[in-house]
Amino acid sequence: MRWLQDQVALVTGGGSGLGRALVERFVEEGARVGVLEVSPAKVHSLRQEFGDAVVAVAGDATAVAANEEAVRATVATFGRLDTFVGNAALWDFGTPLADMSSATLSTAFDQLFALNVKAYLLGARAALPALRESEGSMIFTLSNAAFQPGGGGPLYTSSKHAVVGLVEQLAYELAPAIRVNGVAPGGMLTDLRGPDALGLATRPLSSVLREDTMRGFNALEVAPTPRDYTGHYVLLASRQNNRTVTGSIHRCDAGVGVRRFRPHPTT
Ligand SMILES: NC(=O)c1ccc[n+]([C@@H]2O[C@H](COP(=O)([O-])OP(=O)(O)OC[C@H]3O[C@@H](n4cnc5c(N)ncnc54)[C@H](O)[C@@H]3O)[C@@H](O)[C@H]2O)c1
Repeated sequence: MRWLQDQVALVTGGGSGLGRALVERFVEEGARVGVLEVSPAKVHSLRQEFGDAVVAVAGDATAVAANEEAVRATVATFGRLDTFVGNAALWDFGTPLADMSSATLSTAFDQLFALNVKAYLLGARAALPALRESEGSMIFTLSNAAFQPGGGGPLYTSSKHAVVGLVEQLAYELAPAIRVNGVAPGGMLTDLRGPDALGLATRPLSSVLREDTMRGFNALEVAPTPRDYTGHYVLLASRQNNRTVTGSIHRCDAGVGVRRFRPHPTT
């Protein structure tokens, strides 16, 4: 039997990168999947590729109504919701504090935290009644930057550290009905963007990160693909294989945390 047979998940940012790999893997494991995705082109592509196995909703995860609509459409289409995956986020491309004026910092903070932290809370809140009913689970995407510096600038690193608290608090509040866990990947070449206030809205991470750079900063010397991280989500979401884990974060960054980043050559 497949690990997510007859389960239903909802993934934010399922249109590319890790979110898209999760949609594909969850469907392979027997699940049906709702997606909340801001890009209409990516929504169209999901509908083309996955047909009836996926219901893709176009909307902004930082808005209350979009989260409520994504939950409504998923439950209306598939009859239930077993797992909410908060995943869509922005990176700050490592922008240091000193490189931002106070005004830029203020706007960039609002844009980045709105998606990386507030949207996770809004999605969790919208999914709560359906997850209480199914006694389901939540899984949040973090990063190596949730545990150590150097994987982003102060905006990204602090936003991902905030999600550690979010996982622990929600696991505490929502037990025993709902399991709440996180997955903290390391680098992967994706379409990940940054806040408009930093001029990073149209620039993908894959334009600045290379496979050999990734191999150089993790202990296992690998260049992971989004697919490489999906097994952690499958395990945490699986009713048959996870009756015991809540409040936990899988650190699957290929050992960035084992060696830590090397100091920047100019420092
Ligand atoms: N790429 C990496 O190196 C890396 C490393 C560690 C952690 N992560 C984390 O992985 C997660 C997924 O990122 P990714 O690398 O796959 O990037 P990605 O940009 O490929 O995927 C994010 C998706 O979210 C969508 N999105 C953006 N803003 C949205 C909004 N307001 N509402 C709804 N959808 C929105 C994007 O269109 C995109 O499809 C993020 O939480 C990121 O922090 C990425």
